[in-house]
Amino acid sequence: MPNPSLIRRSKGLLRHTLDQLLLVDLIRFAVVAVRYLWFVGVRRRLSTYDLKAGTDTSVARNTISHNLKGLRDLAVNRSHLLVRPLSVLETLPVDARILSIGPRSEGELFNLAAHGFVLKNITGLDLISYSPRVQLGDMHAMRFGDNAFDAVILGWVLAYSEDPARAAREVVRVTRPGGVIAVGVEYSPQSQEEIIRELGYLPGASKRIASCEEILGFFGNAVDHVYFKHVVAARDRNRVGSLCVIFSIVK
Ligand SMILES: C[S@@+](CC[C@H](N)C(=O)[O-])C[C@H]1O[C@@H](n2cnc3c(N)ncnc32)[C@H](O)[C@@H]1O
Repeated sequence: MPNPSLIRRSKGLLRHTLDQLLLVDLIRFAVVAVRYLWFVGVRRRLSTYDLKAGTDTSVARNTISHNLKGLRDLAVNRSHLLVRPLSVLETLPVDARILSIGPRSEGELFNLAAHGFVLKNITGLDLISYSPRVQLGDMHAMRFGDNAFDAVILGWVLAYSEDPARAAREVVRVTRPGGVIAVGVEYSPQSQEEIIRELGYLPGASKRIASCEEILGFFGNAVDHVYFKHVVAARDRNRVGSLCVIFSIVK
C-alpha cells in the first residue's frame, strides 16, 4: 500500500526539480515559447484590456501598441534583477502569494517559479494577455481585494503610468501589511525627444522616473524597510540601465 505522504513529498520534489530547470534561460525561453505558440497561434487567446472600460486614463499613450511589439521577449532575462533578490528574502516564504504586474509574457512568472516560488500562487496582471496565468487589468484600478498578496512585483511597468502615485496606492492596497513590493524601471541617457525621433512616438509616460528615491516617494509613508536597491553608477550613465528597489510596507 503506497504511503500517501511519501507520494505527496515525492511529487513536490519532482515539481521543484522541474521548476529549477527553468533557471536555465534557454530552457525557460523554450517552455514559454511553446506555450506562447499554443496560446497565441493555436488557441488565438491574445487580447488587450479595453482602456475605455477603466475609470480614467492614467495609462500612458501608446502603452498597449508599444508592448505588443515587445511581446517576443519571452525569457524576460532582465526580471532576474528583481526576482533573484526577492527569492532570498528570509521573510518571504516560497508559497507566498505573488502578483506580477506587467509581466507581458509568461517569462517573468516562470522565472519566479524557477527561483522557488510556487507557481500556482503566482498571478499576472497586464493590459495584454494570451496566458491563463495573466489576468487582463489596469494596475490603477485592480479587481483584487485588500491585502490579497504577500508580494507584488512591478518589472519595468511603473514608467507607463501618467499617475505613478495612484498606481502605488493601488499596489499598497492589494499588498498585505508587512508584505514586499519590488519595482524596476529603465534608466536611459537618451532624452525623450531623441527617443521620439528614433521610434516616432514616446513609449511610456510623459515624465520619466529618474531615481530609486523617486520610486520610493510614490509609495510615501507606506515604505518600511528597504531590502535592496540597484542604482546606475555615475560611470555607467551613458548607457541604458536599471533602477530597482525592493521594500516592505506598513499600513
Ligand atoms: C516593458 S513591459 C515589462 C515586461 C517585463 N515585466 C519585463 O521586466 O521585461 C511593461 C508591461 O507593463 C504592462 N502595463 C503597462 N501599463 C499597465 C497598467 N496600467 N496595468 C497593467 N499592466 C500594464 C504593459 O502592457 C507591458 O506588458
